[in-house]
Amino acid sequence: MIYIPRLALGYSALLSLGTISSVTAQLVSTGLSVTLDSIDYFISPYASGNVTVAPALLSGVPSANGFLPVTVVQEKHDVSALSSVFSAWAVKDDVFSDAFLGAVLVRSLGQNHSTAAFDSSSTSVLIPLETTSVPSGPYFIEQTTGKLYPVYRLYSDFAGAFNQPLLQKADGTFQALSAQVAGVASATVGVPSRLYYTRTAEKPLAGVRVGIKDIYSLSGVRQSNGNRAWYYLYGENNATGTAVSRLIDAGAIIVGLQKPSQFANGETATDDWVDFHSPFNPRGDGYQDPSSSSSGAGASIASYDWLDLALGSDTGGSIRGPAEVQGIYGSRPSHGLVELDHVMSLSPVLDTAGLLTRDPYLWDKANTALYSTNYTSFINKTVKYPSKLYTLSFPTTNNTAADGLLVEFQQKLAAFLNTTATPLDLEEDWLSSPPSDAPADVPLPTLLNLTYAMLISKQQIPLVKEPFFADYAAKYDGRTPFIDPVPLSRWNWSTAYSALALDDAIQNKTIFMDWIASNYLTRISDPDQCSSSLMVYIGSAGAEYQSPRNVYRSLPGAPLGYDSSRISNMAEVPDFVVPIGEVSSYSTITNHDESYPVTVDIMAAKGCDGLIVRLAQDLLKAGIIKTPKTGGSLAGGDILF
Ligand SMILES: *[C@@H]1O[C@H](CO)[C@@H](O)[C@H](O)[C@H]1NC(C)=O
Ligand SMILES: *[C@@H]1O[C@H](CO)[C@@H](O)[C@H](O)[C@H]1NC(C)=O
Ligand SMILES: *[C@@H]1O[C@H](CO)[C@@H](O)[C@H](O)[C@H]1NC(C)=O
Ligand SMILES: *[C@@H]1O[C@H](CO)[C@@H](O)[C@H](O)[C@H]1NC(C)=O
Ligand SMILES: *[C@@H]1O[C@H](CO)[C@@H](O)[C@H](O)[C@H]1NC(C)=O
Ligand SMILES: *[C@@H]1O[C@H](CO)[C@@H](O)[C@H](O)[C@H]1NC(C)=O
Ligand SMILES: *[C@@H]1O[C@H](CO)[C@@H](O)[C@H](O)[C@H]1NC(C)=O
Ligand SMILES: *[C@@H]1O[C@H](CO)[C@@H](O)[C@H](O)[C@H]1NC(C)=O
Ligand SMILES: *[C@@H]1O[C@H](CO)[C@@H](O)[C@H](O)[C@H]1NC(C)=O
Ligand SMILES: *[C@@H]1O[C@H](CO)[C@@H](O)[C@H](O)[C@H]1NC(C)=O
Repeated sequence: MIYIPRLALGYSALLSLGTISSVTAQLVSTGLSVTLDSIDYFISPYASGNVTVAPALLSGVPSANGFLPVTVVQEKHDVSALSSVFSAWAVKDDVFSDAFLGAVLVRSLGQNHSTAAFDSSSTSVLIPLETTSVPSGPYFIEQTTGKLYPVYRLYSDFAGAFNQPLLQKADGTFQALSAQVAGVASATVGVPSRLYYTRTAEKPLAGVRVGIKDIYSLSGVRQSNGNRAWYYLYGENNATGTAVSRLIDAGAIIVGLQKPSQFANGETATDDWVDFHSPFNPRGDGYQDPSSSSSGAGASIASYDWLDLALGSDTGGSIRGPAEVQGIYGSRPSHGLVELDHVMSLSPVLDTAGLLTRDPYLWDKANTALYSTNYTSFINKTVKYPSKLYTLSFPTTNNTAADGLLVEFQQKLAAFLNTTATPLDLEEDWLSSPPSDAPADVPLPTLLNLTYAMLISKQQIPLVKEPFFADYAAKYDGRTPFIDPVPLSRWNWSTAYSALALDDAIQNKTIFMDWIASNYLTRISDPDQCSSSLMVYIGSAGAEYQSPRNVYRSLPGAPLGYDSSRISNMAEVPDFVVPIGEVSSYSTITNHDESYPVTVDIMAAKGCDGLIVRLAQDLLKAGIIKTPKTGGSLAGGDILF
């Protein structure tokens, strides 16, 4: 059963106007929404091809506004094998279902149509198919033209992760997805059938569904950078930058732009989020902060099994934070692996583009596409893991369940690497043997106290704030646009420092980076090993690392201070979040125990990004870690609302 209440009026209006006036209005289809057996689908406005089918053959197939569900089979199969082909499709693809089997267009059928029964309750018409250009899968055929339109399944973005669901056009540009399914204050995202795409060496990400942080420019649609005034001030973007283009070129399907915190600054739900509401972290009681600034990216990958990857950005933890509190893989890559053209900047010396995912094999493929020759995959290669394993602030006794998990993981990781872990105290080491170019008697937390805050504010002001304020003032009679409290307070904080403070910050960063590279995370010449050592710190350890979104917090200010998460920012090394398990804690919201992720961050020498991904794959194979699922817990389960 199908019905389309929405477009019926549009068609009749066109017909009657056309006959009575000379107005040359432009009427463009943006696609149709339908339900088929109670499932929401979207019919793309862009046909994949056309066929000639005698109308009588489709007489038993349900129709809405002249569109009928059909299935295309290009592969050579005996009719007797089709039933199992369709069963396999239904497992592999969330878009295809038996409801598309009323008419099946089969390439290898020969000249004449026939019928078949794929289940006990209905009969399918099998129709010979001549065109080879339409990939296998479900379609809607337009009866009058014989055109076959691709099918998207529609999902409610209940986590509030997307701010602009998109339809990717064949030329790689974008338009808004014109669909809305039931849901409260939630966008609707459409995903095309996975059956249309075949992964090949040239298209390793064919059909992989990706969300993009809304600080990346996509040709054909506006961006917001998490700011309403920005979205309405500027027009549609005219270019897609290198990073996103690499994913598209590899076959990825971009399904929408995802919420960042404003101008990629760190905002904590809920009170920092003035312009837009923060996405929802699905784990535990469902009311913990999703972290930021790749907030939509993290929330979506932990919430939706219909989404494979999210492209975020990490300047000071914006990928790692969301990955840690939502228990998924997330990578801050080595700095500089891909050009960041057509991306809003927070601090060019710190900005990185990276991915969030639940699958370490897809992670590797997508990193290869994204970073091209700057990424060395270790898939199916000989790997010699470093025998030096450093840990930072790891527990030694398991006083809590989270500590127990971390201690156990550390033991298993060390055993897997045939080594023992060496606890490291970088602040102590720095005091006892500082680098020769470091200022005398300056502790590490003092050297780097202001560095991050200075870099992001002094660099973002001329790159983003000033041109934006000038453009806004020019349009609105000298007015200033609304800015959320966090970016505003950070920008304001740095005005008390002269321009020279930026040089100081870069100098401090460089001293630290060189110290790490020569003493701890050294790139070595053996490509099978790459890094002299691995360094691990705690990413998250249960509820203590979560932040309830219903708590009023302190006033925003500059992000000062030093901790382990700053090492990769300053030293430009890869820092990848790996989920290792979860622990339960009592929630005062649900009055029930709920599960929260435990994750570690693993670092290696600059340029050894692929080594960490290989380690994640090997730890998975060895049963030391498990694949995180979507849902209320890493093991799956209901998301609480
Ligand atoms: C059908 O497809 C062929 C190419 O396969 C094209 O030449 C023709 O114009 C199409 N017809 C319609 C009605 O779109
Ligand atoms: C197709 O059907 C016609 C009769 O309608 C028959 O003569 C012909 O042999 C059939 N062709 C095949 C390949 O089955
Ligand atoms: C894109 O190009 C159009 C037409 O030239 C222009 O009006 C618009 O401002 C451009 N958008 C951006 C973001 O530069
Ligand atoms: C590799 O990294 C360098 C340094 O950041 C950059 O200039 C270059 O464009 C990158 N190469 C590719 C293929 O992206
Ligand atoms: C790695 O090896 C596995 C099993 O031999 C194979 O299925 C897979 O395609 C290989 N991957 C790559 C990227 O070569
Ligand atoms: C502590 O760790 C050991 C070894 O991993 C485990 O057997 C024990 O159950 C843990 N205790 C707690 C309190 O988690
Ligand atoms: C650890 O040692 C065992 C036994 O010598 C060997 O089989 C294994 O490959 C080693 N593992 C690593 C990661 O080096
Ligand atoms: C960092 O800077 C703030 C603000 O100037 C200051 O209050 C704090 O004591 C400093 N911390 C360190 C470790 O230097
Ligand atoms: C740089 O390091 C010095 C200590 O050598 C410290 O006083 C200063 O605050 C730091 N500045 C920045 C911007 O990191
Ligand atoms: C801006 O910073 C100054 C100190 O540099 C402070 O006095 C003032 O309150 C700040 N204003 C805002 C809006 O944060």
